Amino acid sequence: MSHRVLTGITTTGTLHLGNYVGAIRPAIAASRAPGVESFFFMADFHALIKCDDPDRVARSSRAIAATWLAAGLDPERVTFYRQSDIPEIPELTWLLSCVTAKGLMNRAHAYKAAVDAATAAGEEPDANVTMGLFSYPVLMAADILMFNAHKVPVGKDQVQHIEMARDVAQRFNHLFGRGQELFTLPEAQVDAEMELLPGLDGRKMSKSYDNVIPLFEGGSAALQHAVARIVTDSRLPGEPKDPEGQALVTIYDAFATPEQRAAFRAALRQGLAWGEAKQQLVALIEAQIGPMRERYAELMAHPEQLEATLQAGAAKARAIAVPLLKQLRAAVGLRPYTDTATTAAAKAEKAALPVFKQYREADGKFYFKLLSAGGELLLQSQGFEQGREAGQWVARLKREGLVADAPVQREAGDADIAAALAAFRED
Ligand code: TRP
Repeated sequence: MSHRVLTGITTTGTLHLGNYVGAIRPAIAASRAPGVESFFFMADFHALIKCDDPDRVARSSRAIAATWLAAGLDPERVTFYRQSDIPEIPELTWLLSCVTAKGLMNRAHAYKAAVDAATAAGEEPDANVTMGLFSYPVLMAADILMFNAHKVPVGKDQVQHIEMARDVAQRFNHLFGRGQELFTLPEAQVDAEMELLPGLDGRKMSKSYDNVIPLFEGGSAALQHAVARIVTDSRLPGEPKDPEGQALVTIYDAFATPEQRAAFRAALRQGLAWGEAKQQLVALIEAQIGPMRERYAELMAHPEQLEATLQAGAAKARAIAVPLLKQLRAAVGLRPYTDTATTAAAKAEKAALPVFKQYREADGKFYFKLLSAGGELLLQSQGFEQGREAGQWVARLKREGLVADAPVQREAGDADIAAALAAFRED
């Protein structure tokens, strides 16, 4: 199997230039590398966790799918799909939920942040926590494990989720793998380039700082308007300027060749006006983003094309998900009744049965005791004068269970004893 890289895209809000430079562009470039099998999907089940506006959920998913395609993602080359088109993902989520410790989920950053916020506001700790938010990491683990991804490129804030997916995968493999690896253990890939683009004010470009340059939204007018707001120093036209540490220059770098970068710096040192520099930046970005924006508008105007692309992607994804899920269902014991093959572990369990031990003590009397499969003492008999008498009680206990009112001391709960005795009556 080639190397599998999987990228989940949260479908909330619209995208900005920082998303493009930090995530979209490098991910698309990586998907073109030889020997890489890439999976890209719209995490629209995840979108429901934070948004209960159906129109926004629908619009955002469509816009983000169109954005990735417009930016050059090749759906022939990669597997590009909507999470909600793969019913095997929520089904796997349940299988994983059943082996995920609640305590592990209690430690998730997103959950803890919600609890901290509620506590700080004087509310119940779980006041704003839905089961969706709480179980977010399990759904994300299912996204990743469903396709046995090796690498998952993410921002730093998501690394914990990948570690949780590894934990859950390990536990599932251990419980149900029977020596065979059902799931590949995924690794987070934190790209140094991610999130580096500064915003208009020099801080990291982020919607929460209101310092973004929109990617397609608002057309070239919005691009021009945003670039005009980039903060510079107050040096006048003709005055030499220091390009280092300027957000304007860093953003320029993100779209320029090494030659263009050098020329831009030289011009600023020689007194290029900030206004003129901004015009050059707009032209540079527009040359790359402009054609994509046109393609984006076209895709948005033809939802049927977009839909067909995603349906084809879902079929490709399900060609992997359906057989894996079938294997997983069998592994946990969800099987057709006609499938009576017992697993190796079930056989091993059978081999380790509870045992009766008969023995004679120093007092000359005959005793027996019942030990569980694990060796724990369940029943202890009194002493018998005759060995035969002890043997007869053992036989009755095996036949009748606790109903046989044998002269024994019960050393464990009745349920455990009854279960152990039942093992003698099975076949
Ligand atoms: N939680 C991710 C984010 O907020 C999106 C996501 C959902 C994801 N499922 C994933 C990312 C699986 C990688 C793999 O960015």
